[in-house]
Order: sequence, then structure tokens, then C-alpha cells
Amino acid sequence: MSVSHTLPNSIPFLDLVTPHVELEQELTDVFRQALHTAGFIGGPMVEEFEKAFAAFCNTSHSIAVSSGTDALRFAIMACGVEPGDVVITVPHTFIATTEAISQAGALPEFVDVDERTYNMSPEKLQEFLEKNCTRKDGKLISRRSGRKVSAVIPVHLYGQMADMDAILRLAQQYGLIVIEDACQAHGAEYFSKKLNRWMKAGSMGRAAAFSFYPGKNLGACGEAGAVTVNDASLADKIKMLRDHGQARKYYHDVEGYNGRLDAIQAGLLRAKLGHLPRWNTQRRKHAAEYNRLFESTGTAVCQPHEPSWSRAVYHLYVVRAQDREGLMNHLKKAGIGTGIHYPIPLHLQKAYAHLDYKQGDFPVAEKAAAEIVSLPMFPQLTEEQLHRVVEEVAVFTGGTRKHIETEKVAFATADRRA
Ligand SMILES: Cc1ncc(COP(=O)(O)O)c(C=O)c1O
Repeated sequence: MSVSHTLPNSIPFLDLVTPHVELEQELTDVFRQALHTAGFIGGPMVEEFEKAFAAFCNTSHSIAVSSGTDALRFAIMACGVEPGDVVITVPHTFIATTEAISQAGALPEFVDVDERTYNMSPEKLQEFLEKNCTRKDGKLISRRSGRKVSAVIPVHLYGQMADMDAILRLAQQYGLIVIEDACQAHGAEYFSKKLNRWMKAGSMGRAAAFSFYPGKNLGACGEAGAVTVNDASLADKIKMLRDHGQARKYYHDVEGYNGRLDAIQAGLLRAKLGHLPRWNTQRRKHAAEYNRLFESTGTAVCQPHEPSWSRAVYHLYVVRAQDREGLMNHLKKAGIGTGIHYPIPLHLQKAYAHLDYKQGDFPVAEKAAAEIVSLPMFPQLTEEQLHRVVEEVAVFTGGTRKHIETEKVAFATADRRA
């Protein structure tokens, strides 16, 4: 996963080696324990991790599964989305969000994102519900597909939560299930005006899905995921789905899946979870330093926006540049790794040609996809490395504030609550 470098002072986009070397003793102890007990599937290591992760997310239950994609799929199925239903989500996300919807037998339909946070726009959701849906026999029907709309999946992209109060209010009004895609947002927080307190990612929807893919803020040493819920019977359903539809060995109530988490991965995640708050704090510090330096150097990139109701955990630090390809090439030559998350919005992917969307359907997502670039972001990034990234960005884009100012004016109206 770590980017290979040729230049001596190169800066990887992501360094996965250093944290594992730092924790080598702790992590190898887990492996040794698993070998000595031969407890490879289920058992106390999985249960301990589930308890600890639920406590971290302020939920009553977490159910460990084999990936974030499975977590989403099981959450969708267990929450009562029926085959053929429409599930609303955003086009600016990783394809796993919509894969899980399709694999649960449902149909994804999209609403555009907010231009500053890149998360689901509550205004666009409202517009979709008011204009693109109709009521038939008490059911909400999508005019586009003629199918029943049953759920909405906001994605907490890049480590920042979507505007959940507004989304939950609309969902309640229209009778929709809310499932959070929190795969990039371990530990992110949202200030709910309705509840008058900070809420953790994964604790606000009927269920939420997390990925522990190695590069995530909390990553396994392999594939892993979890569902969080605040409902014991829903937790039981998800446990059955991950384990061939059985609650008791060889008594299968439904057809399920092989979606369990290995005990070794659970043990490794339990050990790493203890370090997550510190790692997230480091990511937030890096983001603040990037912001400060871009501001003070007047570098012509559009920085990430963190509304006052958000405490983001910066899974990714994403800026926008008019000549994105030029900037990436310049940084590559300087030995600095970058990424694009994601270059093609889902409604324009070949895999979704059958959904019949076209260019221009979701202009905010399309514009973002053309301009975004993710800069190096990981807890162990040094101040010196971070400063060099900013310097190289400034060398390429020039120290003019023009683009930033234009963006600020354009975006000023989008921030309703900050
Ligand atoms: C937003 C989002 N949803 C879902 C997933 C799927 O997680 P996994 O790769 O663990 O299946 C990911 C992981 O990359 C993701 O970023």
C-alpha cells in the first residue's frame, strides 16, 4: 500500500509501514495469542473488539464483518430494504456504496453533493423527494424508476460527517430508513442542534457501516468491516446474515453469507483502536497546518471546508485546483504522492450505464471529480514533509489568491450553518 519512491526525500501519499513498525510488539502478541488458542473464527477476540468499537462509536452494538462492503450490504438488508426498492445516495463516493445497494437487490438513485463539504446536499435530497417522487397507496415512489423509495445512505466522505440533522429530518418526514456509510469516518463527530450534543459517526442512523481496509483511519492488516446499531434485534439479524443465516450452528433461519471477521484481524483492530484517538488528533493537526500554510502563502488551491458543526478526522485531505493534472505531475516529479478520490462520479461510470444518467445530471459532483486532488495525509506525516508539500503546491500554482477568492464568493451561500 505504501507508495514506492525514487527520490531520497520523497513523501508518500500514505505511509502504512511506520505505524505497523511502531506497534510491532503489540501486533505480534495478538498473532501469537491466536496461534496458541487456535481461535481463528469468532470467539473472545472478536467479541472484545466489537464491544470496544461500539463504545468508541457511542452505540450499543457493533458487529464485526469481513469488509466495509459487506457491512453496508448486511445493514441495508437487515434494516428492511426490500429487493426492488430504491435507495438514495450520492454519486461522489467509492463504488462500494452502490455495489452494496445493488447486491442487496435494491436500486441506487442519486442526489448531488454540497459543493463545499462534498457530502450529500440536504437541499438536493429535499428537491429529489419533493419533485422526483410521488405518493401511491401510501408509498413513496420514484418517478424515475417507478419503484418504492425506502432508504437513504449519506456517505461521510473524507472523514467528515454529512449534515445529519437535516437528512434525518427529511427521512423522518418521508418515512425513509437512514444508513450511514461511515467507511471513511472512524471517530468523526457532528454537532446535532436537535439533540444539542456532539454525535459520533455511526451513531445517528438506523445502522452504519465502517471499513477497516488497511489505509483507513482504523485499518486492519487485511480486509475487515463493522456495522454499528443501537438495536439488539437488528444486531442479531446482522450477526445471522454474516454467518450463513444461523444463530445456532446448522440451524439456518435464512440464507446468509460468509461475512465473518477473522479473530486475528479483530485482535489487531482492538490493539490499534487504542491509538486511534491520538492518530485522529494528529490528522486534525496536519489539516489545520495545511490550511494555515495555504492561507498564509496565498496558494491558489481551494482548501477543504469544515463547518462549525463538524469535527472531521481527515481520512483524506482534499484540495481543488484548476489544473489538477498539471499539479499532480509537478508533485510527482518532486517525489510527492497524491491521489484522486474519485475521478469519475458513479452516475457516469460504465458499470452504471444501464441506470441511464448523463453528463450534467449532477454538476457539483462532476466539477469536484474534475478538480479534486488528495494530498499526503497520515498521522506520522512530519511537519517538514507537510511544509515541503505546501511549498511545491505553491511553486506550481503561484502565490495568487485569485482562485481562492472566487471560490469563497461562489461557496459563501452554500454554508448555511457555519
Ligand atoms: C465510502 C466507502 N464506502 C464503502 C467502502 C467499502 O469498504 P471495503 O473496501 O472495506 O469493502 C469504502 C472503502 O474503501 C469506502 O471508502
